[in-house]
Amino acid sequence: MRSQYRIRRAAARDLDRIGEIETASFGREAYDRKLFADYRRTCGALFLVAERRGKICAYLLSCLRGAAAELVSVAVAPEDRGKGAASALLDSLLRRLRRRGARRLHLIVRVRNRAARELYEKFGFRRVRRVPGYYEDGGDGIAMSRPVDV
Ligand SMILES: CC(C)(COP(=O)(O)OP(=O)(O)OC[C@H]1O[C@@H](n2cnc3c(N)ncnc32)[C@H](O)[C@@H]1OP(=O)(O)O)[C@@H](O)C(=O)NCCC(=O)NCCS
Repeated sequence: MRSQYRIRRAAARDLDRIGEIETASFGREAYDRKLFADYRRTCGALFLVAERRGKICAYLLSCLRGAAAELVSVAVAPEDRGKGAASALLDSLLRRLRRRGARRLHLIVRVRNRAARELYEKFGFRRVRRVPGYYEDGGDGIAMSRPVDV
């Protein structure tokens, strides 16, 4: 299933499609185009898209500082969910982080985001702590992390 995706770095021409996926996924909390453009400049090596039959169906954004990487965001177009796109992106991210000598991958996920929490648990992330009021609407987050090498 996962091999149906081509994973590559996000290009400037991809930002419109990434914005569509972002809005469909996060609504009013969506990152804007400028933020994505800034991330592409600063963390472009780990700003990835998943393509299937030439169409982008998901993106993943991560940044590496020293030996610690942060998974900033991942989202899959609603019609493409449940088909392994996020898993293919995470597999590719972990390979890229290994090549760069990263040791640990951190993230924060909404307590109520069951699909994302299950995805991360399946990928070996473990809960570190609860982060009360992390989100703008007052929602709590859960900080999770995993070693890059397991
Ligand atoms: C969370 C999200 C990225 C998962 O992407 P996806 O491509 O559908 O995930 P995959 O198909 O690779 O699924 C991998 C695993 O994730 C978990 N998972 C995915 N969707 C799930 C759901 N709706 N309910 C429960 N678990 C789910 C399962 O453990 C699944 O493994 P399985 O297929 O063996 O059951 C996607 O639902 C999404 O874009 N959601 C909106 C944006 C978002 O919340 N991003 C995360 C922000 S922290």
